[in-house]
Amino acid sequence: MTDPFDPAEFTDPAHANDPHPFWRRLRDVGGVVPGLFGSVQVVRRGEVEFALQHPEIFSSAMEAVDLGQKRPLIPLQVDPPDHVKYRRLLDPIFAPRQMAPLEDDITGLVNDLIDAFIGRGECEFGAEFAIPLPSAVFLRMMGMPLSDLEMFLSMKDGIIRPQGTTVEEVQAYQRRSAERIDAYFEQALEERADHRRDDLLSRFLDAEVAGDRLTEDEILGMCFLLLLAGLDTVTDALECDLAYLASHPGARQAIVDDPAIIPSAIEELLRWETPVTTVGRVAAADAELDGCPIAKGTRVGVGLGTANTDERAIPGADRVDLTRNPNRHLAFGGGVHRCLGSHLARLELRVALREWHRRIPEYHLAPGTELVYSPALRQIDRLPLVFGLP
Ligand code: HEM
Repeated sequence: MTDPFDPAEFTDPAHANDPHPFWRRLRDVGGVVPGLFGSVQVVRRGEVEFALQHPEIFSSAMEAVDLGQKRPLIPLQVDPPDHVKYRRLLDPIFAPRQMAPLEDDITGLVNDLIDAFIGRGECEFGAEFAIPLPSAVFLRMMGMPLSDLEMFLSMKDGIIRPQGTTVEEVQAYQRRSAERIDAYFEQALEERADHRRDDLLSRFLDAEVAGDRLTEDEILGMCFLLLLAGLDTVTDALECDLAYLASHPGARQAIVDDPAIIPSAIEELLRWETPVTTVGRVAAADAELDGCPIAKGTRVGVGLGTANTDERAIPGADRVDLTRNPNRHLAFGGGVHRCLGSHLARLELRVALREWHRRIPEYHLAPGTELVYSPALRQIDRLPLVFGLP
C-alpha cells in the first residue's frame, strides 16, 4: 500500500537533509501530488518532462516565483515566443567555446582560495571556497575588479538572504539591495558605453540577432538574474559534492585514483543531489496531468530531484555510480528554460574538483558535524572539513 503523506512534510527539515526516502514516497503516490497552499507538485519523470516541455500550459511568468523583483527576470520569467529572442542572443555568449578560455583563470582563482587555508589543515568549505568562487568567476567575466568581491557578496545576499522580521521589512530590504545592484551595473554599463572591453557586459551591449539588440533595462534584468541563477547554484552543487565525497571515502578515493572520472562524477552527483530540487511554474490554462485536474492559476512545483531519482525511468536510480553513462539527468532543467549557464557551471565544478583533489586528496567532515541542508536550493548551513584521514 502507498504510504500517505501530508503536504506539510514539504517543509520538514529532515527531508531536506535526506530527501531520497521522501522523494520515493511522493513518486509512489502518483505523477502529481498536492503541495502547500493549494499548489501541486509534479514528481515522476514522465510528468516532469511533460511539464518542462509545455510552457504554454506550465508558464514561467512572474507569478510562478515571486522574489519581490520589479521586472521579469530575463529569460527565466519570459514565456515563448518572446523567450526565444533572448536565448538566441544569450546562447552564443555562454556556449562551450566561449567558456573554455576561462579555464586558466578559474584554475588560478581556485588555487588562490585553497592557498588561504591549506596550511591550517581545515576549512569551512562554504564560507572559504564554495561561496566566494562563483562570485569571483562572475566578477572576472563581467570585467569587474576582484576587490569588489565582499561588496558584491553582500549585495547578492541582500536578495537571497534578506534581513527583516516582517514581510514588509524583508521586501523593503530586497528592494534596496536590488537598487544597489542596478546602480552597480548601471555605472559599469556607462563606463563601457563608448569604450567596449573584453568582457560580458560589453558583449551584452553589442549582442544582436536579426536587428534585435538588448535595451539597457533588459541588460540590467539579465545581470540581476545571472546573479540569482549563477552563484548560489554553483555554491550548492560544490557543497553537495564535497559533503557527499567527505562522507563516502570510497567515492573520494575513486576520484583521487582516477581524476579522469571527474566529469562523469559531476554529472552523477548533480543527478543524485539535484541542488535545484524544484522549479516553479503557474498553470496558464486548465489542465490535467496523470489524471489530476490543475486549475488555471495554480502554482506548480516541478520536481527535478524526484524525476532524477525515478526508478521508473532510470536503471539503478537509487545507486550512485560515478561512471554512469548515459546520464540524462534534469539537474539543469529541461525544455526552453534549460540552464543557460550549464557549460560555465560544469567548467567551475570540474576545475574545482580537479584542483581540490590534486592538492587535498584526503579530507573528512569535522567530528560531530551534523549537516543541515536548506530545502529548495540544497545549500548546507556549515560544512567544516578537516584534511587528512580520520
Ligand atoms: C550547478 C549549477 C547550476 C544549476 C544546478 C542550475 C540549474 C538551473 C535550472 C534547474 C534551471 C531551469 C529553471 C527553470 O526551468 O525554471 C536553470 C536556468 C537558468 N540558469 Fe542555471 N544552474 C546552474 C548554474 C548556472 C550558472 C553558472 C548560470 C550563469 C550563467 C546560470 C544561469 C541560468 C539562467 C540565466 C537560467 C534561465 C534560462 C532560461 O530561462 O532560459 N545557471 N538553471
